[in-house]
Amino acid sequence: MAVLSLGKTAACRPSRVRGFDYPQELLVDSHDVQSDLKHVLYTKEDIQRRVNELAAEIDSDYAGRDLLIVGVLKGAVMVMADLARALHSHVTMDWMAVSSYGSGTQSSGVVRILKDLETDLMGKHVLIVEDIIDSGLTLSWLKANLLSRGPASVEICTLLRKPEAAKVNIDVKYVGYNIPNEFVVGYGLDFAEKYRNLDFIGTLAPHVYE
Ligand code: PRP
Repeated sequence: MAVLSLGKTAACRPSRVRGFDYPQELLVDSHDVQSDLKHVLYTKEDIQRRVNELAAEIDSDYAGRDLLIVGVLKGAVMVMADLARALHSHVTMDWMAVSSYGSGTQSSGVVRILKDLETDLMGKHVLIVEDIIDSGLTLSWLKANLLSRGPASVEICTLLRKPEAAKVNIDVKYVGYNIPNEFVVGYGLDFAEKYRNLDFIGTLAPHVYE
């Protein structure tokens, strides 16, 4: 699916999906995308508002301290970009890529580093930025891994968390939204690498992954 840029527009028809406010004419294969979604959980505006609130909290908590924000590819790209721009403090940015899901819908618990940080963490305040915490296995492993590198602190910020799916207890300092245990896509979140580019978060219809 690709979202076309706004140009001259034909009439806008309301979509069948709640909160899905793109004119259908602007979506390629829009019917397919809409039928893949059950409903919209958070609109673009909801997300922007919550990310701004999280940024204000982070600014206040880290006032006077330099902060390294670490985005976990690929899902965290959107939240990292929006959060970084909403922060007023000095921050540096780095990225890691780890694997946990593959193309399925369940965590395997097996974490591999696909791309490591370029930054030496010694003495630094580190904030891991994630799109979602599901079982908690990835972040539990990642936090321990980063703590072993001698930072001053390591905290976690996630836009979404599924409390019912938790398999390990993990201390998450900043949570955008606690959500039900459903498969969600959009705003960086994928299923089989699709839907990441949606600017809202929706639940995936079971027929897509069952
Ligand atoms: C997602 C998410 C977290 C992880 C959370 O990444 O970004 O890294 O799963 O799951 P857990 O709490 O059950 O461990 P994913 O492996 O889907 O990769 P992606 O970010 O490239 O989409």
